[in-house]
This record gives sequence, C-alpha cells and structure tokens, in this order.
Amino acid sequence: MDERFYITTPIYYVNAEPHLGHAYTTVVADVQRRFHRLIGKETFFLTGTDEHGDKIVQAAKKMGVSPKEYTDIISQKFRETWPLLNIVPDRFIRTTDPEHKKTVQLILQKVYDQGDIEFREYEGLYCFGCERFLIERELEDGKCPDHKVEPTPLKEKNYFFLMSKYQDWLIDHIKKNPEFIQPKRYKNEVLSFLKDPLEDLCISRPKSRLSWGIPLPFDEGFVTYVWFDALINYLTGLDYPEGERFKRFWGVTHHVIAKDILKPHGIYWPIMLHAIGLSPYKSLHVHGYWRIKEEKMSKSLGNIIRPKWLVDNFGVDQTRYCLMREMSFGLDANFSYESFVTRINADLANDLGNLLSRSITMVQKYRKGLVPEERNLDGPQDELRHEAKGLVAKWKELMDSFSVHSALSEVWKVLNLANKVIDKTAPWALFKEEKDSKVLDDVLYTLLETLRLSAVMISPVMPEASKRIIESLGMDQEKELSKEGLFWGRLISGTGTKKVKHLFPRIGPSKKEAKEEAQKKDKKVDKGKKMEEKTSVITIDDFSKVDLRIAEIVDAQKHPNADRLLVLRVRCPDERTIVAGIAQAFSPDELIGKKVVVVSNLKPVKLRGVESKGMLLVAKDTSGLHLLEISKDTEPGAKVS
Ligand code: MSP
Repeated sequence: MDERFYITTPIYYVNAEPHLGHAYTTVVADVQRRFHRLIGKETFFLTGTDEHGDKIVQAAKKMGVSPKEYTDIISQKFRETWPLLNIVPDRFIRTTDPEHKKTVQLILQKVYDQGDIEFREYEGLYCFGCERFLIERELEDGKCPDHKVEPTPLKEKNYFFLMSKYQDWLIDHIKKNPEFIQPKRYKNEVLSFLKDPLEDLCISRPKSRLSWGIPLPFDEGFVTYVWFDALINYLTGLDYPEGERFKRFWGVTHHVIAKDILKPHGIYWPIMLHAIGLSPYKSLHVHGYWRIKEEKMSKSLGNIIRPKWLVDNFGVDQTRYCLMREMSFGLDANFSYESFVTRINADLANDLGNLLSRSITMVQKYRKGLVPEERNLDGPQDELRHEAKGLVAKWKELMDSFSVHSALSEVWKVLNLANKVIDKTAPWALFKEEKDSKVLDDVLYTLLETLRLSAVMISPVMPEASKRIIESLGMDQEKELSKEGLFWGRLISGTGTKKVKHLFPRIGPSKKEAKEEAQKKDKKVDKGKKMEEKTSVITIDDFSKVDLRIAEIVDAQKHPNADRLLVLRVRCPDERTIVAGIAQAFSPDELIGKKVVVVSNLKPVKLRGVESKGMLLVAKDTSGLHLLEISKDTEPGAKVS
C-alpha cells in the first residue's frame, strides 16, 4: 500500500459560478483525502481555477471589467464555496498565479528544445466553446456535440505538439496498468479513441486573436493553448520541478474529473508527462454527469443548483451524504429536491439517527448510561457483531476504488441489521425478565460498538456527525477517527454515554401535515381573491411598518420543487434569497442584473423547502405581471419612502 496520496479536482473555469457539478467533484476529492488520511496516509489535496482563454475574456466583457478583475471575483467565489461544504483543500491554485506561468513556460521550453513542437499552417474546424479544433468524427449533424453550434473553418499558423509519436506508448501503458483509467468504461472509451491515428495537438493561439494567456517562451507572438496551460496546474500545485512536495507526492497522483474532459486527461496529459520524462499519474477517476429532472444543468434552462442552496436546505453533512449516495461513481445521476429529502429522512434521520437515540436511551434506562460488558453470546446480536467486523475490509476496498456509494450502502446494511436486532431481542423484555441479564449487556454493547465503528467508516463523508456520535459514546474523537478506530471492540465497559440532540432533523412536513397546510393555503387564496378588488384605508403608521428597499437581482433560478416559483438572490444591500411566484411571467435569465423593489422586513417563510426573506413587488394588470424597475444608478439597499 502507498504511504501517500495526492488527489486533484479539475481546475474550474471562472466563466461560471460554482454549482452542484463542481461541488460533487470537489466533495469526492475531499472524501477521498479524508479516507486516505483516516487509514494513515500522508495526503495532499489540490483544487483551483482555470482562468485563461477566450471564454473568460468574453465573460469579463459582459460584466464590464478587465479579465484580471473578473477572474479575481469569480475565483474568490470558488474559494469561498468549499468551506461551506466542509471541503478543505491544501492548496487552491489559479492559472494566473506567477509560479504557474513559470512552470508552464519551463515545460514548453523543454518540449520545444527536444524537438516535440513544430510550427506549421493548419486549416480546420474550430469550436470556440471547446477552444479547440474538432475533427469530423467528433461532430454530430455537423455540430459540436457539447455546444450545439457548427464549428468555424479557420486557417492559421500555429505551434503543434507532436503527440502522435507517443501514441503506441500510451496504448501500451493503458493496457498494462488496469487502474490507470477508471471505471473501465472510460478506459475503453480512451482505447477506442486511440484506434485511429492521433492528430498532433495545436498548442498555441496567435496573440492577435487571444492575448489572455501565457506567452510561449520561444515566440512572444503566441500564447499557449488553454489545455496545455491548465493541465500543468497539477505539477505547479506540487512545486514542480524542485519542490519537496513534488518529490513526495508525484508518484501517487489521483485525478478526479467528469466524463466531459476525459480526452485531455486520458490522452494529452499522459503524453505531455511522458514527453517531459515524468511517469504519468497513477489513476484517473472519471464520474458521470448530474442532471436536473433529466435535463442538463444550464443557465438558459434556469435550473442551476448552487452549493449554498444545497447547504441551506439540507445541511452540510446531509448534502455530502446525498451527493455521495445518490450518484454511482461513473454513471449519470438525477438531482431532485425530493430524492435528497427522502434520503435524509430515511437513511439519516430514521436508520442512523433513531438507532443512535434508541440505543443510548436504552443504555441510560437499563445500564445507568454506562457501556455494558461485551459477553460474546449467541443470538441476533452475534450475527450483527460478525457482519460489522467483516464490513471494515469491504468498506476499505470500496472506498479505495471510489465506490463511495457502495461503501455507504454496505454500512447501511449493517445499521439496518442493528435496528432489526433491537426488534428481535426486545431489550425492554430482557430487562423486565432479569435486570442484570448478560444477553442484554451483549445486545447493548454490540449496538453501541456497531455505531462507533460505523461512525468511523462514514467520517470521510460526514465528518461532523461522526464526531457527535463518537462524543455521545463517551470516546475520544481524535483517537477514534483514525486508523486505530477501525477495529471491533474498542468501546470500554463503564464508559459514560450522552444523548445527542437532533443528529439529523427530519426535513419537511409529513404527508398529512402537508395536505392540511395546502388546504389552509387554498382557503387563504379563496379569501384573498374575494378581497382583491377591495382596498382598505390604512394610516401612515401602518404604512411606515413596511420597509421597502431597492434590491439588485444577482442570481435567479427555477425553484427545484415548484413550477410557479423562482428563487432569487438579491442584494439590498445584504445578500438574501427571495422566493417569488413569478415563474410564469419571467425567465430567470431576464431578471439577473435588474434593480427592483422589495419588502425587506417580512417574516421569513419557507416556500416549498426554500426560505424566503422578503417579497418582490410587481404590478399586475390585464396583460400580466410587470416589474417595478428603477434606474441602474440607484444603490441596492436604498430605502423607498
Ligand atoms: N477548466 C477545465 C478543466 C481543466 S483541468 C486541468 C474545465 N472546467 S469546468 O469548469 O468546465 O469544469 C468541468 C468539471 O466540472 C467536470 O469535469 C466536473 O468535474 C465538474 N462538472 C461540471 N458540471 C457537471 C455536472 N453537471 N455533473 C457533474 N460534474 C460536473 O473543464
């Protein structure tokens, strides 16, 4: 087993703000780092932002700022998002960092000097979205399959990296190292791509067309192509070539990506590494795509899910759990609010939360709150003991192969078995029969020890909940949440236990409550309709209670759980969420950037699971709804009086 572990995420483009997809990949990496640290390895975790290229220039222009100002703003948003999800990278890299520029130029010069780069004219089909030339075979109906636009024919002189000469080496390397690209389907995809001769890779852009990039060290008239620049971040992150970290971690490199960027990572990157005389990474771990109710997540569809929204609605550990549990690594998954709520209520509140609170309550009732002795007796609890002990090796193997969803599912099998043991052994009846029953001791010990061991195994995914479970069992968090904690039988009899409050609160009302709530609302609506045309007289005091403010809409999305509603992020001047029933009248995109009037001191309410702090004012006439817009110069937060 390697003693060290280096994990990376893609560096994200700053032409969009962080969303569910970025959050997933970054949580995967964080979970892996926590797992490998737990089993005793020295770890390093790198993430960051990819900031050069035409797309960034366009996005900056749209915002009316320079590329530098723009990248500073959005990169910061990524950096600030990760702590919300309890993601703790060791380094956050930006491709605009001066040390990165140095590393890229060093590598370019090396490859150029050894004759692997050539200057020639190229004519091809260029996709501005992908920022690369596409070959005929990649097109669908003549269009780029990702950007759905016809690529533009371009003819220009450029520098080419002579990749084709390393093609046979790469095929051989992939075949000899089964863990190189995982899961298998993606390895096969890369191998099938390599059946055709590789085209040499165009690695430059003339400065006249694109200036926002790293200049080629051997020709100032050109900047380097985004992918050549971006991939090298994985080396800069370790202070290549002389850094101590590089020496310690390069041999144990694991990259996590989604299937969209398989080709650069599965083909260009290992060839680049081989060309500069480095061993390629150890493994590339490729996952599928999150979709929202079977659709792609996109700004134009207005269905982008933000990490902050997830955390506000579900909680941090809960979000991490659902992300890991709801997607089988490698396959696509669907996000829906309902599926996350179901998971949280069933797996976390019921299976785990109730097991803990039932077990501790019984220990308090029947054993004065103290851990009893393990008696190793036959019975349903013995089966549980056997299963829980056997789980550790399986869990380790599954976590190590990035099958976190299966690892969690195995832990839950044992937790469910524990719940069944309570029903089958009926500890209350054992206590009634004989207060100091040894069977009761054994049952209670087995339940608590199963909970302790499970807490260690779920700690990479739910670090905070795990700590609380360990604490309630009267154990030392630091000692237990380490490789020592992964053995059966660590709970010591006589240890005092404590109750935990609301480990995982249930989300949302029960069906019955929801129905009553809906009926109440319907009644109000009817009443409201009758009142609509009547206006009652109010005093100036009544009016002065209403705090009206100018708000700038900074983001707008469809409510994931209600067709009628939009979820708006507004600045007035503090940033907050307002849920507005205007989805039929406005698309999210047309609202972003507008300055509108809101009631800012309304008592917060939850609308279909999303908390709304305030109300957007609109005018209604026979033609529909109209925004109360105000001149762009008005500052957000200005009082309307
Ligand atoms: N900048 C390049 C990567 C360079 S790495 C040397 C890039 N950036 S990106 O912002 O487009 O990020 C792509 C990555 O974001 C995906 O590979 C994946 O990790 C994550 N995801 C973006 N959307 C996603 C989903 N809808 N679902 C799952 N992951 C997704 O490509």
